[in-house]
Amino acid sequence: TPFETLILERHGQVMLIRLNRPEALNALNSTVLTELIAVLSACQTDPEVRAVVLTGSEKAFAAGADVKEMQALDFTTIYRQDFLAGWSEVAGFRKPIIAAVSGFALGGGAELAMMCDFIIASPTAKFGQPEITLGIIPGMGGTQRLIRAVGKAKAMDLCLTGRMMDAEEAERAGLVARIVQPEKLLEEALAAAGKIASFSQPAVLMAKEAISSAAEQTLAEGLRFERRLFQSLFATEDQKEGMAAFIEKRKPAFKDR
Ligand code: HXC
Repeated sequence: TPFETLILERHGQVMLIRLNRPEALNALNSTVLTELIAVLSACQTDPEVRAVVLTGSEKAFAAGADVKEMQALDFTTIYRQDFLAGWSEVAGFRKPIIAAVSGFALGGGAELAMMCDFIIASPTAKFGQPEITLGIIPGMGGTQRLIRAVGKAKAMDLCLTGRMMDAEEAERAGLVARIVQPEKLLEEALAAAGKIASFSQPAVLMAKEAISSAAEQTLAEGLRFERRLFQSLFATEDQKEGMAAFIEKRKPAFKDR
């Protein structure tokens, strides 16, 4: 692998991306960002990649932005370079991306997990926004995505106290989609991604786009957008194939057309 901070593994049509800075609990420095953007951009254009799983180590998904890298920064520098703006490219990835979280997902690590489409967690997962303990606040979406995932009460609690939330609390609150046993974490995330990869890609992309748009518009606009996407899928061969296969009691053969 040509990357310093990532390990890539192809599993059929799924790309597994492992954050790999064990010496820093996968803290997110500028190299991680640059490499992650490069990999996702390649996944975006590679027709053989139909879904992505993003994971860390057993001990940490990612323990935050790299404090050692941030320490010396000053306001005018980070304002002029629009520090952290690059992460919007990760959030804008169009294919499905699942976060498989074990251990710490703190600060920027929690924010990165929330940029993914959904989170599958090991019981060891710990989520938190400890920025307040460093004299700062979340800067990669923590105050915005967390409130949408768990509501105001827990978002305030986590961001103001800096405490961690375990996997069970996170699942109860709606941040985590599923909790699976540690030894099954990757297997289940890869299986979910593989399942998604087997469906008609236009339908998959539109489902993601419609759900992702919900946070950005009113309910009326969102419903209209969903309905238009839904209607447009009736222009595809895959809609005909999917429905014919159901009625003929056979497996569909999707062609992404
Ligand atoms: C840089 C980090 C790091 C981080 C851990 N390390 N987190 N380095 N940035 N965010 C390093 C430690 O310095 C240490 O290096 C090594 O990883 C192992 O960590 P330990 O602390 O020894 O491990 P442990 O005692 O198990 O404690 C785990 C931990 C703790 C509770 C997760 O590491 C921790 O509190 N980390 C910081 C969490 C945090 O504040 N994250 C938010 C960052 S701000 P050495 O060299 O000493 O062995 C943020 C802003 C986001 O994310 C918004 C915009 C970016």
